[in-house]
This record gives sequence, structure tokens and C-alpha cells, in this order.
Amino acid sequence: MPSPAVSPERAPLRRMEPLANHTTMRIGGPAEFFYEPQRPEDLAALLTRLEAEGVPARLLGGGANTLAPDGGVPGAVIHTGTLRRIFREGERLRAWPGVTLPQLVRTALDAGLGGMDRLVGVPGQVGGALAMNAGSAAWGIWDEVEEISVWEPGGVVRRMLPAEVGPVYRDGRLRGRVVLEALFRLRPEDPAALKARQDEFLRRKNATQPVTLSSAGCAFKNPPGDSAGRLVDAAGLKGARLGGAEISSVHANFIVNRGGGERPSASAADVRGLVEMAEAAVEEKFGVRLERELVIWPEPLRPLSP
Ligand code: EPU
Repeated sequence: MPSPAVSPERAPLRRMEPLANHTTMRIGGPAEFFYEPQRPEDLAALLTRLEAEGVPARLLGGGANTLAPDGGVPGAVIHTGTLRRIFREGERLRAWPGVTLPQLVRTALDAGLGGMDRLVGVPGQVGGALAMNAGSAAWGIWDEVEEISVWEPGGVVRRMLPAEVGPVYRDGRLRGRVVLEALFRLRPEDPAALKARQDEFLRRKNATQPVTLSSAGCAFKNPPGDSAGRLVDAAGLKGARLGGAEISSVHANFIVNRGGGERPSASAADVRGLVEMAEAAVEEKFGVRLERELVIWPEPLRPLSP
């Protein structure tokens, strides 16, 4: 491999960084080269350089929807976590990709702007949330986007409108593009009403989802007109365990890591096993093929030693 260890961009590099420290499931072996770009232009320059050098690169935001492999990731993982600036421009918020969703929701609330309320209690960062169109069953973050700035394979940086990108339910359709910045257009609202609505979303979430355990959110997309959680539940898999992983007994579309304290952590293999078990059971019982929402990075041919 060429020389990915040399980083002319403002993007500090760590070698063999444990991905378990950067995913909400607390699972994942080491990343061979782990970069943290400081500004959007450093992210773009780094992507262009790694592409030219032929170094495979994966993007990691809040790690809230990613299952990182036990054996680690050869090549580069680019973490957007330090790209955390957010700017208010009247009724708009301009956010860098590492702005966390709680930070985005809080900034909108403080500014008396509505639109982001359904993201209350959702982990993750703006870049990852746009890549997968995070949100609820009937709403996604793309619904509030006016424009984004992206890096494209080949090294082009350009602005795009939502209609050009064409996001759909739980898929931002970025197709290899990387978000450098997003402009959200929100609506002024009475802050007290906004706060009350957020509190209600949070109350419902806390009542129906395993919010106190490590998970990566919903493992499957909802099939049209149905709920993946309902189907996995009806297939009898609530509470099913493999190693340290469990199909949540609170909400069957969540796979939780029961490890921590005295208990050993779940492995990525445990989680993949439960994903496959749920897919097979739902297909067999109901003839429905579940589509994964959880992004499962492949295991390397040879595990990297931490
Ligand atoms: N249900 C069951 N058993 C379960 C879980 C759910 O029978 O174990 C039933 C519920 O009783 C309800 C129906 O399934 O009748 C739908 O469940 P819920 O209201 O919890 O919503 P969901 O469709 O499972 C969606 C999003 C969540 C989002 C919530 C609330 C998807 C795949 N999931 O869940 O998003 O938080 O609505 O807005 O679209 C995520 O994408 O990671 C995620 C957590």
C-alpha cells in the first residue's frame, strides 16, 4: 500500500484505533489508519488523496448505525467527529458533518426553530444521518434540507439540492459522495410548544425502545405497511441471545450488547448471527424479506491484531 501514514491535511492520524470506542454498540476491532479531519476542506483533501493513493477509506460518524468487524478494518477509517461546527443563519442552520444530532436538536430549540424535533433522543451525527436519512417511520432528516455540499469520487466538490440526490426512506442515496456541510431550512416556532413536542417524542421513545443499553438503533427497515419490530416479535425472537448480544425484549428491532461490567461484550459475529436468525425466521413465518438498516462492515480476510 502507498503511504497513507503521511497526512499533509489537518487530519490527525491514529494507528490501530479500536472501533469499539467509536460505535454505539461498543463493538469493533482496530482501524489500521484512523483519521480525524479538522475542517470540511481537510476531509475533502484527505478523501481525494486516499483515492489517488488507492487506499480504501470508510466514513464513520457517530457509529450509531454501523456494525464494525471484530477483525478490524485494513486501510483508512475517516471519523467525522471533530467536524462539529454549527452556524445559525436566520431560519437556517448550517452544520458540518460531525455535528451530533443532540447538538442539532438543541441548537434548533434554543433558536426557536422547529423541524428537527423527531430527532430528539437519536444518537449519531449529521453526515451519517444524511447518508441513511435518519428519522422516524414517516419522516427523515432530508425533509428539512435545503442544500448540501459534497465531495464526489474523482475529487469534485459541489453543492446539491435534495431533488438531485433523491433520498428515500432510510437511504440518503449518496452513492459514494461524502457530506462536507448541510444547510437546513427550519420554521420559527414558540419555544415552549417546541419543547413540549420534543418532550413528548422523548417520552414515547423512552417507553418503547431499549434506550439505556448499547445498540445501533433499528436493525431492519420497516417493510412497506408493516413494522420490522412487530414481525421479529411475532416470529418469537424477542429476548433471543447469542453470546453477549440479544434481540431486545423491549423492542424486537433493536439488537443490544449486554456486555459491560462483569459481562463480556458481544462480538460483531454475535450480532450478525442474530440478524441472520431474525431474517430467516421472518421469511419462513411470514414470507417477508427484511431489508437491513444496520450497516455491516465486512470482516477482513486476516484479522488485524490490536
Ligand atoms: N411492535 C411490536 N413488537 C416490538 C416492537 C414493535 O409489536 O417488539 C409494534 C408496536 O407495538 C407498533 C409497531 O410495531 O404497533 C411499530 O413500532 P414503533 O412504534 O416502535 O415504531 P417502529 O416502526 O418500530 C420507527 C423507526 C424508529 C423510530 C420510531 C419512532 C424504522 C425502522 N424505525 O420504529 O427508528 O425511532 O419509528 O419514530 O423506521 C431507527 O431507524 O434506528 C429507529 C429507531
